[in-house]
Amino acid sequence: MNLSIFQTESEALADEIIAQRRDFHRHPELGFQEHRTAGIVADAMNDLGLKICTGVAETGVIALLKGERPGPTILLRFDMDALPIQEETGASYASTFDGVMHACGHDGHTAIGMAVAKLLHGHRQELPGTIKLVFQPAEEGLNGAERMVEEGVLLDPTPDYTLAMHLWNGKPVGWIGVTPGTAMAGSERLEIEIAGRGGHGAAPHQTADPVLATAQVICALQSVVSRNLDPGKPAVVSVTQIRAGDAFNIIPSRAFLGGTIRTFGGEVRDLVLQRVKEIVCGIAEAMGCEAKVKIKRLTPPVINNQALAIRIQSLIKRVFPEAIVDSEEVVMGSEDMAFMMEDVPGCYMFVGSGNPAKGLDAPHHNPHYDFDEVVLPKASALMAAAAWMLLEGE
Ligand code: NI
Repeated sequence: MNLSIFQTESEALADEIIAQRRDFHRHPELGFQEHRTAGIVADAMNDLGLKICTGVAETGVIALLKGERPGPTILLRFDMDALPIQEETGASYASTFDGVMHACGHDGHTAIGMAVAKLLHGHRQELPGTIKLVFQPAEEGLNGAERMVEEGVLLDPTPDYTLAMHLWNGKPVGWIGVTPGTAMAGSERLEIEIAGRGGHGAAPHQTADPVLATAQVICALQSVVSRNLDPGKPAVVSVTQIRAGDAFNIIPSRAFLGGTIRTFGGEVRDLVLQRVKEIVCGIAEAMGCEAKVKIKRLTPPVINNQALAIRIQSLIKRVFPEAIVDSEEVVMGSEDMAFMMEDVPGCYMFVGSGNPAKGLDAPHHNPHYDFDEVVLPKASALMAAAAWMLLEGE
């Protein structure tokens, strides 16, 4: 089949996809609470006559599209959740829910997923295999993908490949990032408690001051990346939370720090985790305090299957010749899609969605975030074509 047909067909659906995205945008829902969104998705999948499964990881929806020709199974994942941000775009379709906003483009992802289902369903007689459409809850820090894996999203049928995409506002429409190998960092949550001996603010000699120890810990943690790691190996250590003391004249007994660590795994991760623990505990001890360090792995890195990424790059060059393919986009952000890609060869694509000329280039997670909707049919065609190519084993 000539896969450029998906481009023509998705452009014909453009108004519908944009209207659907705007509806989701007006009604954003936080992770594991996407009841309205999931209901709309489930109804649409039902209308296509697909076999669906709802309530996976609370609000996730899985829809199976079986082609009339035999072939492999491809999992396509689209996330549905919004963020706890007060929208400031002033758009006519701005959020109608106080303090909740689709500030990462997942409203677009969900609308794209519904369009992909429609595009592929229209060709089910020739479709050589099965498409497993996964509408995932709670991507934003709540690991909805991990919950879906625990609840069997990779079983019955087990996919041969997984694909996912993210609208990417830092790049213009027409740009597509497909990186062979590591594309996004793994993420850890850091929690530190420093216990000292509290006392009067005017008699510090009678105390072991956890606030002073905390200040030194924060500065010293910056030496892990700058002084322990090979400068050619990326990692991030960010302290983002501090809590200590309630009164101006009391040295508290305890202080708490929170933060995040990003690495691409392996020896770098081992070294960073080890040095963070050594620095925190060593400084606390030197200051007469005692530290407890908890590091919890949130997501592994997103690693695109090399061969798969290269096949998708050549598909894009063939079917969407006007697109700019970038094979070097690597970010320190993380994605729980990594859980669905751990045991199944997968590819995660970044799809440029920014348009500075229209003022649509605010960063993700910003109250002014919005993207250029012309990307919606293009991204739908891309996902449909990539899935088809993998089914055909081209
Ligand atoms: Ni996102």
